[in-house]
Amino acid sequence: MGSSGSHLSGVWAKVTDLKVVRGEGCRVFDVNGDAYLDFTAGIAAASTGHCHPTVVKAIAEQAHRFVHAQVNVYEHDLLEPVAARLAELTPPSIDTFFFSNSSDEILEAAVKVAKHATGRSSIITFDGAFHGRTLLTMAMSTSRAIDREGYGPFPSGVHVAPFPDPHASDQESEISRALRGLDRLFQTQIVARDVAAIFVEPVIGERGYIPTPPAFVAGLAERCAEHGILFIADETQSGFGRTGKMFAIEAHDVEPDILCMAKGIASGFPFAALGMRRSIDDKWRPGSHGGSSNGTPIGCAAALATIEVLTADGFLDNVRNRGTQLIDELRNFQQLDDALLHVRGRGLMVATEFDTPERAAAIVEHCLEHSKVILMTAGTRKRTIRWMPPLIVTADEIDEATAAFSAAIRATG
Ligand SMILES: Cc1ncc(COP(=O)(O)O)c(C=O)c1O
Repeated sequence: MGSSGSHLSGVWAKVTDLKVVRGEGCRVFDVNGDAYLDFTAGIAAASTGHCHPTVVKAIAEQAHRFVHAQVNVYEHDLLEPVAARLAELTPPSIDTFFFSNSSDEILEAAVKVAKHATGRSSIITFDGAFHGRTLLTMAMSTSRAIDREGYGPFPSGVHVAPFPDPHASDQESEISRALRGLDRLFQTQIVARDVAAIFVEPVIGERGYIPTPPAFVAGLAERCAEHGILFIADETQSGFGRTGKMFAIEAHDVEPDILCMAKGIASGFPFAALGMRRSIDDKWRPGSHGGSSNGTPIGCAAALATIEVLTADGFLDNVRNRGTQLIDELRNFQQLDDALLHVRGRGLMVATEFDTPERAAAIVEHCLEHSKVILMTAGTRKRTIRWMPPLIVTADEIDEATAAFSAAIRATG
């Protein structure tokens, strides 16, 4: 037992010290019965909110039919329906699906299939990207050096290309600079014909909710086409309605070869999917990948129910409207406080960036202590507060959260 009297590992970073017993909609309830407005949505995973009745019902019903049906041994009856539904929702290039439990597993699977499909050994990620915490996905992640500290050396074959600085005043030349950096990487580090894939977050997540500029994405897609490199979109955080579109990549004029999906896909139930072109899957050697709990029946049920909620008439309109409301309300505070440097976002993937990490942390703490609103930071220097409520959030709940923010700004200024 640890010195705190707990049998739990101390490795998890803590956003709050709350001990919670249940969740409902946008709220979680702690052991004292106090309700907290959860604007983290379990780090953008609880897409339909906590315990959405449609999702709970589907999970409960499925638990009575099958908890575990191992995919190598037999095929249960929800695998094809989930794949068929995803084929309808994902970009037209994506028609074939592999299922697993977490984004890390899906990102690793993406690297493996890209290697088989191209016969090439290396991949490219971008400066500031975050793709996970296994050793390979950490090798792909450069959002914060402290997350990598003490864990190296990492798997080789991962090259990090420049990402345009979102705060550069001349965005056009900044994007050209970053693309030239990639071209130079092909001259100095690895020839393009050895690169299997590039991994792109259509909206950068952990580094601080930065929409990836369309001209940059277009430049990457051009280079992929020229050199036979697969374009892989990591939609772990930005997918399933988070940005007001089913997938954030829809805002770009590109058809990804592979799409990584997790978090919101099953309302936070551990489930993740890799979408790809059939021609890519055809080159994935049968039997060369898998896992005991791939495509679990309960995960599939949770995903189907989540998709039912997210595709209901007007659902994504609400995400866009609430996102606009949130950004408008947050922008008002820029007139009050010079420390609030930037307000940005797409849909309900919104960021408020402050001048110092201390100020951002003080505001998060004030919102929790005084208003029972849960927020959390992001970014390399943790100067950004990210706003990622459940997608079912109401206008009143947005007002409640921004009122908490207003009080915190005044109290900590
Ligand atoms: C784009 C992206 N990829 C991968 C991950 C890793 O997801 P998880 O923390 O669920 O393993 C994250 C997590 O925030 C992410 O934002």
